[in-house]
Amino acid sequence: MRSARRAPMLRGMSTHLTSYYDGPDLTGRVRDALRQAGLDPARLRVDDLVAMDQCHALGLAGTVALAKLAELRHGERVLDLGAGIGGPARVLVARFGAHVTAVEPTARFRRLAAELNAATGLQGAIEIVDALGHALPFADGSFDLVWTQAVLPNVADVAPLAAEAHRVLAPSGRWALAETVAGPGGAPYFPVPWADDHDASHLLAPEALRTTLERPGFAAEVWEVGSAAVAPAVAELTSEPADPNPPVELGLIMPDRDTRMASLARNIAEQRIAPVLAVLRRAP
Ligand SMILES: C[S@@+](CC[C@H](N)C(=O)[O-])C[C@H]1O[C@@H](n2cnc3c(N)ncnc32)[C@H](O)[C@@H]1O
Repeated sequence: MRSARRAPMLRGMSTHLTSYYDGPDLTGRVRDALRQAGLDPARLRVDDLVAMDQCHALGLAGTVALAKLAELRHGERVLDLGAGIGGPARVLVARFGAHVTAVEPTARFRRLAAELNAATGLQGAIEIVDALGHALPFADGSFDLVWTQAVLPNVADVAPLAAEAHRVLAPSGRWALAETVAGPGGAPYFPVPWADDHDASHLLAPEALRTTLERPGFAAEVWEVGSAAVAPAVAELTSEPADPNPPVELGLIMPDRDTRMASLARNIAEQRIAPVLAVLRRAP
């Protein structure tokens, strides 16, 4: 880890972080699984990890599709907000040549992210920072691209986070996001991959989310909801099929993944939730 900073001051409505992601340390479990798969946990390829470390429903294909949609260029400064164990950050560095600052408030995710960054030789290109989205410890205009995947359903009040995303972006910078919104079909079934119950889940309807995100001074250049939001990832999967027998999988990080993914699928089928894919442009 190049550095691990704590936001000097927490501003905004609430400093609350869901405890849902807390739990036992993950580093030993992942090291053991990698050894069992015949890999050296200290020397890994980014692609060895992608079936485990993309902690969102669309996996590697979703990350690659979003980066292409955002027209991510070599050398751009990316703020990955809610970076998890750093899988998307590693892909953005390894495949797109980005410099990534990975903000992640959950300590055990930061620890594993740092270990995997070092094992893949990417620790110099990814800075891990302990902070929350509504109080970012960065100067105005520090980034070219803000990136969120599967984070906003954990945020009770998205408005302060959107204001911070706007503040830390350079003029004309972009915010690329792949998130989940509420659908017209009624309350979701739980548990889902981001929450055990209704109290910890904060889904907005698509137009309410769009209005909240655009308010600080963004304009949506891409805004797709439902099957159109998934189509770019499906196209990626067609050109680069997922490894049918990966060395490590998401179940290591989320042991009851199958239960949570099943309710996710049922919620989508019954239009209780929907995926949203967007690229927002900050005003010049
Ligand atoms: C479902 S995980 C997604 C991780 C990562 N974006 C990915 O796709 O692999 C959601 C992450 O958001 C983080 N998170 C939750 N609330 C947050 C907040 N207010 N600010 C920043 N990160 C937050 C959690 O700690 C967790 O790592």
